[in-house]
Amino acid sequence: MVMNIKPIMAFMVMMMKIGILSTALAVEASEALPGCDEWCGKVHIPYPFGIKKGCYLNQNFSITCHKTDLNGPPKAEAFLMHTNIRVMNISTNGELHVLRPIVRNCYSYGDNYLDMNETDLSVPTMYPLSRSKNKFITIGCNHVGLILGDDQGTNVESGCISVCTRRISVVDGLCSGSGCCQLEIPKGLTKLSLAVGELLNYTEIRKFSPCGYAFIIEARRFQFLSSYIDKFEEKEVEVVLSWGIRKELELDCGLNARRNSSIFNGTHYRCQCLDGYEGNPYLRHGCQDVDECKYPWLNDCKHKDKCSNTEGNYTCHCPKNFHGDGRKGGKGCTKNSTSSIPIIIGIGVGLPVLLIATTTIYLGYKKLKFIKQKQLFFQKNGGFVLQRQLSQCNSPKDIVRIFSQEELEKATNNYAQDTIAGKGGYGTVFKGVLDDGLTIAIKKSKFMDESQTSQFINEVIVLSQINHRNVVKLLGCCLETQVPLLVYEFVTNGTLFDHIHDTTKHVPLSWEARLRIASETAGVISYLHSSASIPIIHRDIKTTNILLDNNYTAKVSDFGASKLVPKDQTQLTTLVQGTLGYLDPEYLLTSELTEKSDVYSFGIVVLELITGKKAVRFDGPEEDRNLAMYVLCAIKEDRFEEVVEKGMVSEANMEQIKEVAKVARECVRIKGEERPSMKEVAMELEALRATKGEHSWANVRLSAAGESSPFVESGSIGAVDDSMKLELPHVEHGR
Ligand SMILES: *[C@@H]1O[C@H](CO)[C@@H](O)[C@H](O)[C@H]1NC(C)=O
Ligand SMILES: *[C@@H]1O[C@H](CO)[C@@H](O)[C@H](O)[C@H]1NC(C)=O
Ligand SMILES: *[C@@H]1O[C@H](CO)[C@@H](O)[C@H](O)[C@H]1NC(C)=O
Ligand SMILES: *[C@@H]1O[C@H](CO)[C@@H](O)[C@H](O)[C@H]1NC(C)=O
Ligand SMILES: *[C@@H]1O[C@H](CO)[C@@H](O)[C@H](O)[C@H]1NC(C)=O
Ligand SMILES: *[C@@H]1O[C@H](CO)[C@@H](O)[C@H](O)[C@H]1NC(C)=O
Ligand SMILES: *[C@@H]1O[C@H](CO)[C@@H](O)[C@H](O)[C@H]1NC(C)=O
Repeated sequence: MVMNIKPIMAFMVMMMKIGILSTALAVEASEALPGCDEWCGKVHIPYPFGIKKGCYLNQNFSITCHKTDLNGPPKAEAFLMHTNIRVMNISTNGELHVLRPIVRNCYSYGDNYLDMNETDLSVPTMYPLSRSKNKFITIGCNHVGLILGDDQGTNVESGCISVCTRRISVVDGLCSGSGCCQLEIPKGLTKLSLAVGELLNYTEIRKFSPCGYAFIIEARRFQFLSSYIDKFEEKEVEVVLSWGIRKELELDCGLNARRNSSIFNGTHYRCQCLDGYEGNPYLRHGCQDVDECKYPWLNDCKHKDKCSNTEGNYTCHCPKNFHGDGRKGGKGCTKNSTSSIPIIIGIGVGLPVLLIATTTIYLGYKKLKFIKQKQLFFQKNGGFVLQRQLSQCNSPKDIVRIFSQEELEKATNNYAQDTIAGKGGYGTVFKGVLDDGLTIAIKKSKFMDESQTSQFINEVIVLSQINHRNVVKLLGCCLETQVPLLVYEFVTNGTLFDHIHDTTKHVPLSWEARLRIASETAGVISYLHSSASIPIIHRDIKTTNILLDNNYTAKVSDFGASKLVPKDQTQLTTLVQGTLGYLDPEYLLTSELTEKSDVYSFGIVVLELITGKKAVRFDGPEEDRNLAMYVLCAIKEDRFEEVVEKGMVSEANMEQIKEVAKVARECVRIKGEERPSMKEVAMELEALRATKGEHSWANVRLSAAGESSPFVESGSIGAVDDSMKLELPHVEHGR
């Protein structure tokens, strides 16, 4: 027993030391005003926050402390001002942790799958959500989650969909669209609501995923687990809000603190303790000197016992007969020069030589490692396969060029912020200029899985051989980086989406231009489907993927999702991928990809060109949210002319617009097999363009038929109802 006391004592001494150290490190001074409560239960309340009047800076920083001690230990909960927003932590660096509810939508609540559960989660205007710390998450297998916000009068809308037709496709830890999807918070919002609802009326999915959930959470606290699909019990989660002091208030920061005025776009400021001080910078004597000498890890002294604390800093000393600043990162300590000269010469000559030698060896090693790594990436990214394939090709002029990492870094000034030309779910596009003056666009994917490599190589080879004036030309790629980079020609005039929807940046397109763009796009998709050496399904046709050059010539881009279809196969089973609003509903349900999915997406693009409306909208009545449904309803109710974008209509072209709408309606039929092929669509649009200006035969035919609307035609109206219910034969059979 006696033997045992020693280690126990040592242990206790050690524990005490740790205890003392850690409490001593925290600044002992109160962080509240004198005479004010500093705690509400476990929540620490530093000034400018406070509980009682006189303890907070103003009403906006008041905390309501609810104490309950009925039956059991006393409890206290803190709430922000007089709201029901529960505060978990307040920090003087400008963060506030609060609890916010999760929005859920469970099938059992109602039969109408289109019902969204929209819940207002607004926070007080002086406490916007932190953009960098939070994330928006949606959980579910057939669910859309939306953030609908208002930023000083401008709408902020964003959303993501989470799809999984089978339970086993959901993977722990992976929140990327299957079972879970996530978004960055679009802005530092205060007025916002979250909504979640089912995407399609699909009874099979409800059996393993009865509910959808949408919430905002501090990003580092969330890790997706596949079991959340079955059951997610949290009611509230922690969210980070930010705060600052309004400029007009002119509260002085304390001594030894500085003011940071760049908060909320310069309308607010924060106080920060100077380096070497710690504490509450909002109190006059809040920032206290840190005694760096007490804690070995806070000072840089070579000899830890030769440290003396100063106000806001510390000094290191050298032992007797040595001089210098005593700092490891500085001059250190050198022996005083009273001894023999040869040693000095020895050091004088020897040290530099040794230094040079070690530096050279070290740099050489680093460089070798760097080269090795590049080679590794090159190999992993399929560089050798590509090189072999290319060497077998015999038309060298059409071949893709392999760029080096240095070349692309130089072209983009090391991927500088101001060279970013676009950002999306796929990754980032940079604009660069090569040494020979050619302007290029470099696409850097977010993520690349090794198993996709051979596919990537195939796509590079096929795309490099597509030489169509309406496809953005792939110039080459770089395989030496961790994710392969693709290099394209740079298209100057932006996306079709911007030209249609952003009237502040662009003049509205005329109907003639719209029809030409539609016709060119149809032509190129038709070419991809049928004429290219191996048919290609684009899979992500949308107005943001159609670029325009200076002559408004359409250039289809982004083949990142595209699939090559071997000649003997007409359909492929794939992970569903695409963009909400353009996504073929049949493909969404069956995961079977055919060329007809592109036809559907193209139909939506045409409707967007005709109406000037976005493919999905989250305002307005339910039935107007989906563009296809919106137009089909208008046609059915014989008020098509109302939905056509105003400015571009003239007496001469209304009939032509109606004919084009007819083509689009065929494209967005629910059943793939009923849609026309892309070749038929392209021919039809080409023919319609040719009728321009003349007294078209379509016109003659219509007036002869005496119809006020060209759409009243047997067999077409049923499509309206079909599209609203999305009832497909295989759903009913429980596929
Ligand atoms: C409160 O926030 C501060 C700063 O972010 C952190 O150091 C502290 O651990 C947090 N306290 C709690 C209880 O979460
Ligand atoms: C909507 O979400 C709220 C918050 O989670 C929940 O209380 C409510 O029951 C939900 N309503 C429906 C219809 O699911
Ligand atoms: C959803 O589908 C079921 C069965 O397929 C059907 O009975 C029900 O009416 C549909 N609900 C809606 C709102 O379309
Ligand atoms: C609280 O903050 C709001 C929004 O910043 C501001 O309009 C209001 O004047 C503030 N209240 C006080 C008492 O300063
Ligand atoms: C001022 O605050 C902003 C936002 O918190 C931060 O990014 C910036 O680095 C701060 N500036 C200084 C000089 O500390
Ligand atoms: C931020 O400040 C800049 C320049 O002062 C201004 O142009 C911009 O509109 C402001 N942004 C917001 C969101 O207030
Ligand atoms: C502390 O003193 C050192 C040496 O004089 C100086 O380099 C450093 O910048 C000072 N640090 C602070 C926080 O003032």
